[in-house]
Amino acid sequence: MTKSPMARALALASRGRGNTSPNPMVGAVVVNATTGQILGEGYHHRAGEPHAELLALRQAGDQSRGQSLYVTLEPCNHTGLTPPCTDAVIAAQIRSVHVAVLDPNPKVSGGGIEKLRQAGITVRVGEFAEAAYALNLPFFTWALYHRPLVILKSAMSLDGKVATATGQSKYLTHAAALALAHEQRRQADAILVGLGTVLADDPSLTYRGRRRGRDPVRVVLDSQGHTPPEARLFHHESQAPSLVLTSDRASRAWERDIFTAGGEVVRLPEDPSGRISLTAVMEELAERRLDRLLVEGGPTVHSAFIQAGLADQWIGFLAPLIIGASGLSAVGGGYAWLSEAPGLAIRKIRKLGEDGVIEADFLASPVLQLPLSLVEEA
Ligand SMILES: NC(=O)c1ccc[n+]([C@@H]2O[C@H](COP(=O)([O-])OP(=O)(O)OC[C@H]3O[C@@H](n4cnc5c(N)ncnc54)[C@H](OP(=O)(O)O)[C@@H]3O)[C@@H](O)[C@H]2O)c1
Repeated sequence: MTKSPMARALALASRGRGNTSPNPMVGAVVVNATTGQILGEGYHHRAGEPHAELLALRQAGDQSRGQSLYVTLEPCNHTGLTPPCTDAVIAAQIRSVHVAVLDPNPKVSGGGIEKLRQAGITVRVGEFAEAAYALNLPFFTWALYHRPLVILKSAMSLDGKVATATGQSKYLTHAAALALAHEQRRQADAILVGLGTVLADDPSLTYRGRRRGRDPVRVVLDSQGHTPPEARLFHHESQAPSLVLTSDRASRAWERDIFTAGGEVVRLPEDPSGRISLTAVMEELAERRLDRLLVEGGPTVHSAFIQAGLADQWIGFLAPLIIGASGLSAVGGGYAWLSEAPGLAIRKIRKLGEDGVIEADFLASPVLQLPLSLVEEA
């Protein structure tokens, strides 16, 4: 059985993982409509570089005439950093275009396929739509919900403790799990911790994996301005900015010290409990196009994201040891009744070296389901 060209386009798209932000990963394949032979392939490598469709059309050259294009996201019909892809598709005299999902970006939304149809091209939408949506979940979350995709990450003992009673937490897991944790950072646009973690662990929050990649933007939640200017996250060599999100309660002198240390202070509103409003945090990060947010705890911050209904995914690294009840749980607070406890759907469980890894989706998250509007044509 020959593989669907859309499956091939999705595989190509994923080659851009970790490099295309804030653009989505996109793949495209030009095939001979009669024989199914692949004539040209392309994927979006990074923002500012050519779109997948252009690369596939360029590779197919004159052979594109009268043939089919498979693309994982609706082609754009506006001029951004690159010219509209719809013009290139029309100029190449493609006869049919297969689109996995529509682009919710208001500048494109439905306009791309409309323009192709007006040019007499047959357009089909929806093949491999679920996979195409899942591939670019952070991009779709930003476009549809105006906030980042939120992934809570914890490294814990088998009994769910992230630190001992004496505060020891480094490093629970081993080399293979640490490498995956760094890959998670490479793919993230921003990484967030609370003041408690900065004071306890003094993390640098940089990407230190083997693959080529950039550091995520580092974000600290600190309502009163207690983050020490000498904290490692300001001094570890990195191109990535370090943001401290605080309130008007933080002193100007402290803000100057953070600035001098190389950090940026952003004052946001507080929630009724006097802590930084997570809704305001989401708006600030969305404004900066930080679409994929990795929250590396600790328990207070994890609990706050879950309580606010802002937790989408969970990644738990399980170290083969037991810490016991005196240790610190991965999530603070707690629920009196099972019916109140947030449920998750486990997506993946695997063993990595000596450790285990569980990836799961919060059932209450609104962003994980493919919206019909992205496959139904108006
Ligand atoms: N094993 C792991 O994966 C892992 C990862 C991280 C941390 N840890 C461990 O966790 C412990 C620290 O736990 P923690 O709970 O104190 O750290 P945390 O969750 O990182 O920080 C909590 C602090 O963040 C500040 N904050 C500001 N706005 C907030 C908001 N909207 N919601 C929640 N918090 C907000 C609060 O301080 P203000 O009120 O002063 O703003 C709060 O006390 C350490 O022992 C550390 O080693 C383990």
